[in-house]
Amino acid sequence: MPSFFERNDLERKRRELRELYTRAEVLLSPMAGVTDLVFRGLCREMGADVTFCEFASADGILRGNRASEELLELGPDEHPVGIQLFGSDPEKLAAAAREAEKLGPDLIDLNFGCPVKKVVRRNGGSALLCNLPLMENIVRAVVEATELPVSAKTRLGWSEGELNYLETTQMLQEAGACAITMHGRTRDQRFGGVANWEPIAEMVQIAEVPVIGNGDVWSGADFLRLKRETGCDAVMVARGAIGNPFLFEEIRAAVEDRPYTPPTVARVVDVLLEHMDREIALKGPRTGLNRMKKHFACYLKSCPGVSALRKKVFVSDDPAAVRAFFLDYRDQYAGLSVGRPGGERAA
Ligand SMILES: Cc1cc2nc3c(=O)[nH]c(=O)nc-3n(C[C@H](O)[C@H](O)[C@H](O)COP(=O)(O)O)c2cc1C
Repeated sequence: MPSFFERNDLERKRRELRELYTRAEVLLSPMAGVTDLVFRGLCREMGADVTFCEFASADGILRGNRASEELLELGPDEHPVGIQLFGSDPEKLAAAAREAEKLGPDLIDLNFGCPVKKVVRRNGGSALLCNLPLMENIVRAVVEATELPVSAKTRLGWSEGELNYLETTQMLQEAGACAITMHGRTRDQRFGGVANWEPIAEMVQIAEVPVIGNGDVWSGADFLRLKRETGCDAVMVARGAIGNPFLFEEIRAAVEDRPYTPPTVARVVDVLLEHMDREIALKGPRTGLNRMKKHFACYLKSCPGVSALRKKVFVSDDPAAVRAFFLDYRDQYAGLSVGRPGGERAA
């Protein structure tokens, strides 16, 4: 009788992700409300090696709702790309993975880290850190359901007093996860404080599958330090890329030991207008412009003299007017360089 590993071709799947994360240096994290098709495309053009869709609930996928379909829309040449699922019912997650596989991603990722109450209350995301047997059943069920490699993204534990990252690592790889992303915070920390990378280094020592380090990479120097201090196979960035897809260029420069010059105001405006145009092409003028408003705020965080511009942009619902405001602003400040697009490291 073939073993679980043989039955699910786990040697091949582990090899595939090992090869992927040997080639790939930097990944764009899944981010709800941020990493749609358009933003993922921009980050890829700037140097992201792997991208992830916003997480999608197993229930939403199985109901076939329009919102889930939009979340999982992949670009025609968007590879390698992962679809991330969340939920708490192994059978539903397995069925959702079968549906997701039909859309053509390169891997399925499972979310075991989301701290948001709405998700945790229904035993999904980081709630599973308190129920490793259920987490294990989920991973096994999804691994059995799909031909694609399955990975997991999680946190250090529920709280400082309940750190279980080594136990989780061991369990995940035995259950068939072929890569593990570790965000160096507990659920209790949400996004506060500073990510602790030491546990990621400990994980690397025991992991038989690639480990992806995550948490507080805001610059090329942070990227190099996370790799050096942990020995992780690849790095995933999230908040540092919001309003700053240029971060991937900075990381690429750091990897190649080249100097990095932050973009000029003119370039930031050009990229945010391109971002807006693509959102509008995809979603229509109303939804496209609305989606852009939170991105605008982030793009402009480190640009000089933006308070008047902000006021005009945020009350407008006319893309042509918004474009004109930005072009005026661009003419005024074109040659100036921005501090760090997207703003500084969170306090
Ligand atoms: C707006 C936002 C949305 C997020 N959505 C997801 C998500 O859908 N799936 C997930 O695994 N993590 C999600 N995260 C967490 C990030 O992927 C990442 O683990 C965390 O922000 C730490 O990385 P960073 O310090 O680079 O931001 C989200 C974070 C933010 C700020």
